Amino acid sequence: MRQRAKRLPKPVFDAIDGGATDEITLRANQTAYQELWLRPRPLEDVSTVDISTTVFGSTISMPLMLDPCGFARMAHPDAELAVRRAAGKAGTIFVASGTGSYPLEDVAAAGNGDLWYGLYLPSNREVTEDQLERAKAAGYGVMCVTIDSPIMGKRERDYRNRLTSPLRMSPRLVVSALSNPVWAANFALGRVARGGAYRSAKTAYKDFANTIQAAKPVTYADIAWLRQIWNGPFVVKGVQRGDECNAIVDLGVDGIIVSNHGARHLDTVRPTIDILPEVVAAVGDRAVIFVDGGVRRGTDVVKALALGARACLIGRPYMYGLAAGGEAGVRRVLEIFRTEITQAMALLGCRNVGEIDRSMVTAERRSLPRASPARRNVDSGFDLNHTRLTGKH
Ligand SMILES: Cc1cc2nc3c(=O)[nH]c(=O)nc-3n(C[C@H](O)[C@H](O)[C@H](O)COP(=O)(O)O)c2cc1C
Repeated sequence: MRQRAKRLPKPVFDAIDGGATDEITLRANQTAYQELWLRPRPLEDVSTVDISTTVFGSTISMPLMLDPCGFARMAHPDAELAVRRAAGKAGTIFVASGTGSYPLEDVAAAGNGDLWYGLYLPSNREVTEDQLERAKAAGYGVMCVTIDSPIMGKRERDYRNRLTSPLRMSPRLVVSALSNPVWAANFALGRVARGGAYRSAKTAYKDFANTIQAAKPVTYADIAWLRQIWNGPFVVKGVQRGDECNAIVDLGVDGIIVSNHGARHLDTVRPTIDILPEVVAAVGDRAVIFVDGGVRRGTDVVKALALGARACLIGRPYMYGLAAGGEAGVRRVLEIFRTEITQAMALLGCRNVGEIDRSMVTAERRSLPRASPARRNVDSGFDLNHTRLTGKH
């Protein structure tokens, strides 16, 4: 799917695929999974394997969910609507980004099944209350606030591609966009529905940029306040160390997503699968733990469950699927994961997710070939404010 997503204009593909600075954590998020070994129990009767699990009282068909990815319109005109449909049909949960290309009500109405609201905290509390009321009314059952994005990260691929926010059409960008005329026509001429009215994709992009610019760093006081105003399950996304978890859980948070934002903000932070055990040890059963970042195989999901996660989330993999084939592409990605998770569990001797325990994975590391040499540092040469958006989503 990643190869097929490369049909997108290069700046758009890079905006999805890329990570911060030297992309060391971007690679490590994936290779850290490859460095963990599985330990099968072959003598179990695995004639039936049930890969479903429960999250806040709901059953999902597999321990894999879909992360919030802002402005999915850059990958496909159906954007979050297609993701919502695909997730519903696959029987899993989509965490729809508050910086989506479509109004949150339209995303909710597009499909079935549980839906979470991915909040970038607005600086204005009235705006926040309004957003959350709308989300609640539209049927979003869980609120998930992203805490790892107080400022932009340095995404050098975007710098090289001169991808800015607000979008400034440089000759280079126009030439890149025209490398895929169908995409360019869809993006330039396509209309995005908004509350009955219609707006161009460029306006949708501007709104998306404004939402991100208006977001504020999240503090403990904000978490306490959000807990007061949201009466459903409340999840915090972006935790990267165990020693802050007790304070977070003490504020009444129900779930934690161990995440480094897909390595898009701060490079050389630890891969998330390495952080997971310390968060699980700190939290115990006081909150439900999830993990994202670098999950690319069914075996990765099983390893995360063995280390204490309830479920994994994916970002880029479904964005590649969306780019490759809209709803059908996202569904295909989910079906590949479903098959791989089922195969991995059967071959490990696990009939259900409850049987995936810590003994299934070893912490020994094998030595891997060195990652590709560090990239040359790039000086953007233009105003960082104009790239704030691309660094943040
Ligand atoms: C194109 C793109 C847009 C994203 N937008 C958001 C967002 O709006 N809110 C958020 O919390 N995280 C956002 N993220 C981060 C993802 O939710 C997730 O943490 C990350 O993609 C997981 O890593 P993976 O891509 O390796 O699966 C975005 C990631 C990508 C690739």
